[in-house]
Amino acid sequence: MSAKEQIEALRKELHQHNYNYYVLNQPTISDYEFDQKMHELEELEQQHPEYADPNSPTQRVGSDLNQSFKQVPHKYPMLSLANTYNEGEVRDFYERIRSGLEGEDFDIVAEMKYDGLSISLTYVDGKLTQAVTRGDGVVGDDVTANVRTIRSIPLQLKEGSGYPHEFEIRGEILMPWTSFEALNAEREAKEEPLFANPRNAASGTLKSQKSELVAARKLDAYLYYLIVPENASVQQPSLGGMADLFGGVEEQPFSNDYHYEGLMQAKQWGFKISEGMKKCKTIDEILDFINYWDKERKNLPVATDGIVLKVNSLRQQRHLGYTAKSPRWAIAYKFKAERECTRLNEVTYQVGRTGAITPVANMDPVQLAGTIVKRASLHNADIIEELDLYVGDMVYVEKGGEIIPKVVGVDKSQRVPGMQKVAFITTCPECGAPLVRYEGEAAHYCPNDSGCPPQIKGRIEHYISRKAMNIDSLGPETVDDFYQRGLIHDIADLYTLTVAQVAGYNKNRVVSATKAVQAIQDSVNVPFERVVFAIGIRFVGETTAKLLARKFKSMDALRQASLEQLLDVDGVGQVIAESVIRYFADAKNNDIIDRLAAAGVQMRMSDEELADHTDKLAGQSIVISGVFERHSRDEYKAMIEKHGGKNVGSISAKTSFVLAGDNMGPAKLEKAQKLGVKIVKEDDFLQMLT
Ligand code: IVH
Repeated sequence: MSAKEQIEALRKELHQHNYNYYVLNQPTISDYEFDQKMHELEELEQQHPEYADPNSPTQRVGSDLNQSFKQVPHKYPMLSLANTYNEGEVRDFYERIRSGLEGEDFDIVAEMKYDGLSISLTYVDGKLTQAVTRGDGVVGDDVTANVRTIRSIPLQLKEGSGYPHEFEIRGEILMPWTSFEALNAEREAKEEPLFANPRNAASGTLKSQKSELVAARKLDAYLYYLIVPENASVQQPSLGGMADLFGGVEEQPFSNDYHYEGLMQAKQWGFKISEGMKKCKTIDEILDFINYWDKERKNLPVATDGIVLKVNSLRQQRHLGYTAKSPRWAIAYKFKAERECTRLNEVTYQVGRTGAITPVANMDPVQLAGTIVKRASLHNADIIEELDLYVGDMVYVEKGGEIIPKVVGVDKSQRVPGMQKVAFITTCPECGAPLVRYEGEAAHYCPNDSGCPPQIKGRIEHYISRKAMNIDSLGPETVDDFYQRGLIHDIADLYTLTVAQVAGYNKNRVVSATKAVQAIQDSVNVPFERVVFAIGIRFVGETTAKLLARKFKSMDALRQASLEQLLDVDGVGQVIAESVIRYFADAKNNDIIDRLAAAGVQMRMSDEELADHTDKLAGQSIVISGVFERHSRDEYKAMIEKHGGKNVGSISAKTSFVLAGDNMGPAKLEKAQKLGVKIVKEDDFLQMLT
């Protein structure tokens, strides 16, 4: 056998073992044997780089290269489903289908609604070529490199299994409960923030810039929607006859007429298909399915939040059609949030970066929607008052699909005499300062911003974060360490750090310390608008920081701006303007700014940036819609901002114009026409700016 043949044979074999293990859950060889074969393949591939293939099973490990995601338009928009919450609404759906189909016989497919994030996979000639997230339904992120690491997604479909030359298949990427709990346990040990639920964990993982990390996090995927273009063809192994003369295969048209049968075929090609799908004829069969899975879903390895009902025949689906947002031929039934009763032992309080105090209920651990819950946010003093909470109360805890568990009520019948009503604290649990409550705000605050440790550390963490100064060789642990060792008290102190200080007496730390100090020094080149965001003025987010930077152009001008001048900036209201004034009225902040400036941090817009910016679109609100040819959406967004305009999400009477590409959504088009909002084509827009 030649090396090439050997490599191909090993790849094929390993694809099959992956499938047996991750899709069928039925491995036929030991992990050890699998590793041996993988190793063998790796070595061969190393010796023969000319046969490299991104779809090789060895590539599942991912890479630590940074990737930023390309935005790609969906060939077919990714729609969402209308939700129903009770039996009555499900019956209504069934009746709508029945009358819509005018007496024709129909089947409804009932299946699990997976609670992860949706993905669209493209296969060409049996190979995975692209994986795109839902995004806004029209354009999504190309996450192919990350998706390749998910073992249950086939990179190569089974040969001769009859797949069409080209198709898309959509489904849900999920983090199984076991991986989720292991990940959070690991994060807890490292004092890293926990993920609230497997969906957030899966989403955070899939959007990671490093596919190596994605590979380590063990995601899974179920597929539930097959899209085969019309006139698709398939290579079938020939059953003899003329075609044998041409290599033993025959081209045949591929017909995809039914949802259920289509997915059953996809299962043969190698996909992991939604468990427990059922074709139903009557409404009673549908309701039985719902009731069965409402309980049984707790035994599934992944999170589900409902049942999806779909008309089986694709011809009937086309007949029923779509509303602006979702198909008329399908609907989601959402399970009720799970609720448990447990004892409240104590209310503790957390202090955030801004000094905001969050009360937390500490309870007897209770099993809820797949995880063990022992803490829940109580949000603020008003909510505690409304619940009328006593320490020792039996409380009801609920967990919806997305949210952190919350206390929704109290079983007052279980109260015993002598229990204490929960009294909100009056001083900061971290530094002892008396708390304040600003007018119109629900939260209490610790006002000791320059002396309260979590606030000091929080501000430094914000300063180094990715969207601010992006000093990525530091993290929350290093900040905590430097603070504990007395090396830093505020953001300006970062620039005084030396390698000797950071490494301490530890020789082994010199390399990482040098890297950290260098990264801090490099941050002096970060553009001014990000500095405005990084210094952490309350209520000044990324977008507002840009507006302020562009309007005032230097820190000195911003520092001297009056309330009126600030309010004059489009997008800056009373709360933000007052907060900016308050920030610069504080001598400590001015001192920090002066020390940052002395360290070389950018305190004004560079000449280049200034030259790039004009007022051509000043005061205009612009909506972007459709798919573009010359630039990406993000580039257009940046252009609008550079020229003083504002990119807004939805069309209203205040919209100046719509920057429209191809395939602008019909709903948007109608709205624009109704309100008389101008539509500007890509080329004309670029013309406006020249
Ligand atoms: S079908 C045109 N089937 O729910 C129909 N969606 O609200 C396309 N989802 O974005 C979707 N399980 O992320 C379908 N068995 C299932 C599903 C499912 C979960 C998600 C999907 C979609 C959302 C719709």
